[in-house]
Amino acid sequence: MELGDHPLFLAPMEDVTDQPFRVICKELGADVLVTEFTSVEALIRNVKKAAHRIRVLEEERPVGVQIFGFNEDSFSKAVEIVVQQKPDFIDINAGCCARKHAARGEGAGLLRDLQNFERIVKRVVASSPLPVTVKTRLGWDHDSIVILEVARMVEAAGASALTVHCRTKQQMYKGEADWSWLEKIRKTISIPLIGNGDVIEPEHAKILLDCGCDGVMIGRAALRNPWVFKQVRYFLKTGLKLSAISLQERVAICKKHLHFYSRHQGTRDRLYAFRKFYTGYFNGIAGCAKLRAALMTAVTATEIENVLDDFLRHSSADTN
Ligand SMILES: Cc1cc2nc3c(=O)[nH]c(=O)nc-3n(C[C@H](O)[C@H](O)[C@H](O)COP(=O)(O)O)c2cc1C
Repeated sequence: MELGDHPLFLAPMEDVTDQPFRVICKELGADVLVTEFTSVEALIRNVKKAAHRIRVLEEERPVGVQIFGFNEDSFSKAVEIVVQQKPDFIDINAGCCARKHAARGEGAGLLRDLQNFERIVKRVVASSPLPVTVKTRLGWDHDSIVILEVARMVEAAGASALTVHCRTKQQMYKGEADWSWLEKIRKTISIPLIGNGDVIEPEHAKILLDCGCDGVMIGRAALRNPWVFKQVRYFLKTGLKLSAISLQERVAICKKHLHFYSRHQGTRDRLYAFRKFYTGYFNGIAGCAKLRAALMTAVTATEIENVLDDFLRHSSADTN
């Protein structure tokens, strides 16, 4: 898997980074995509939603499928299913902080049972013809930071890369990501290290790369601003900031996303869940509040498109 220099990863985010959003982020400069996490148990039981989540498109490459669980046999069986979808790599989730998963020993729960964590990584590596990567956090809580031990273990178990969200499980998404760990991890392992957590501005990505990361993973900032990947890449190349994104481009990308989204969902659906993307496309633009109010009355793809076209027409008339 060729990744080029300092790849920018779109972080897996449940109910956000579905296939339509991943394709849009790719178009806007994300180099590597990862699916939302999918339960190995659900894959084995052939749950429809799980099977749907692991589908990837040719235009997403390179793309990884992320899986989670706590039982090594289930991981091994799930790998067989994932491989049929032909992703470029398989990512093991060892960072999910949701209580229902972590308490069962899944996600960040693996950080409390490093022996099981190791068995799982080894088993997935042994079962998978594809590269295997691991995404984790610093540790369970402030008093049990195990990331250096985990990094060593993950490398020795045969993983091809490690992504670290620089928070503990207990922090969830609170406080600040502690990037200072990245330098220490870098000195501990030789496999590619992907830094993650609180990268919002292009300068943040540069700091992570200066800490020795090979790549940077961006999550919530991509939802708030899908152009973040282009902005980061431009800054890394030139040291300069990209100029503001025009309203025309915002509307065009939002409409493209809407088109993929309605096709992906099935066109008869009411697209309430698409509303979470409006902030990213339109926050801060002139007339944003009015546009949002109008968008909140639109539920079908055609209604949403009409609102966007009207807004663009009126805005162009205002500026002429
Ligand atoms: C809504 C939401 C869903 C998430 N789902 C996943 C997931 O499925 N798998 C995973 O490894 N991390 C998941 N995460 C964590 C992100 O991948 C990322 O590690 C975290 O948001 C920190 O990065 P950021 O500060 O760039 O957002 C999720 C985060 C959010 C906000």
